[in-house]
Formats: sequence, C-alpha cells, structure tokens
Amino acid sequence: MFLPVYIYGHPALGRPSADISQGEEGFDDFLRDMWETMYEADGLGLAAPQVGRNIRLFVIDASVLAEDYPACEGFKRVFINARITERSRERVVMNEGCLSIPGIHEDVSRPERVTIAYKDENWVDRVEHLEGMLARVVQHEYDHIEGHTFIDHLSTLKKRVLKKKLAALSRGNFQRNYRVVLPASRAGRVPGKGGK
Ligand code: NI
Repeated sequence: MFLPVYIYGHPALGRPSADISQGEEGFDDFLRDMWETMYEADGLGLAAPQVGRNIRLFVIDASVLAEDYPACEGFKRVFINARITERSRERVVMNEGCLSIPGIHEDVSRPERVTIAYKDENWVDRVEHLEGMLARVVQHEYDHIEGHTFIDHLSTLKKRVLKKKLAALSRGNFQRNYRVVLPASRAGRVPGKGGK
C-alpha cells in the first residue's frame, strides 16, 4: 500500500523518533508499505517520519546510483533503531533532494565518512563504516529520524533565499506524482480547497 508522503513544514518531520521494539504489531506490513512507497515515489531512501510515523526506521536502496557510484551496487538495507556512532572530521559537499521537499535540490556539507550501528530487518545487530555516496544517503535518512531535513544544514542566507519556495511547498503549490500530506491538513483543511 502506498503511504502518502508528508511535506516539509509538517510537525511529523520536525521531531525526533522513538526506538522500535521487536515484535511490534503491524511492523512487517508497515515495512512492506515503506518499500512500496519509496519505489513508487522514485526515491532511493525513505524514513518513517516521512510517512507520518515517528519511529526509528528507514530504508535505502541505492543500487540505482551504481552506474556513477559502484559502491552503491546492491546496497539495499533496512535500518532499525540506528545510531551514528562516528563521523569523520573531513566533510564533503554534495547535492541533495528529498521526497518531502519536492523540487528543491541544494548543496549540503556533511562528514565524508560515518559509522552506523543498527538492527537489520531480521533484528540482527549490524555495524557499517560508510563513505562517499553511501555515507551521504545514510546521513540524509538518519536526519529524518532525528527530526531534521537537509534544509537545517543550509546557511541562514540560503534559507532566506529559499523561504518563499518552502512556504509554497507547505501550501501544496508544487508538482508531484505521488500522494502527499501537507502541513496545513493537520488543522483539518482539505488540500486544494480554500487554498490559493
Ligand atoms: Ni529526505
């Protein structure tokens, strides 16, 4: 089942998520829906807060990037209760986009390498040392479970430049080919009615 994607400005995207307990009812179904949503929306990663659940879960399938980044070949992972335990001092700038921030792509500076501890879909403990594009994708999704988006990493000036665009996003004025939940809809407003 496709889960509508929550759009920038919604409070679900701005609060830290809670750990998940093994055996939680409905978890397997939810995970299946996460994958379906990610693929249908043409994303290479999706975090639970982006579909309105504040739990520490994200999924990544970076294999679409394999042509440009060979390390991404076959990198398909479920991250449960992840914690980034180490970040390199060296930083790199790469361009990012997000299903919750459609139409906006910005250069973001992040640590070049990270170590992440998590449980996989079989609840087996894993530790991975990642660099380059994989470190990038993982940090982007990890941000979501911490209540952040890539916008938080931009300079004050850059945020000021984007202000109108972000406001338009929150009102639903953007192109998308997947179902979304707008920030305004939490007040009971029906998207597309009563708006401009
Ligand atoms: Ni994102």
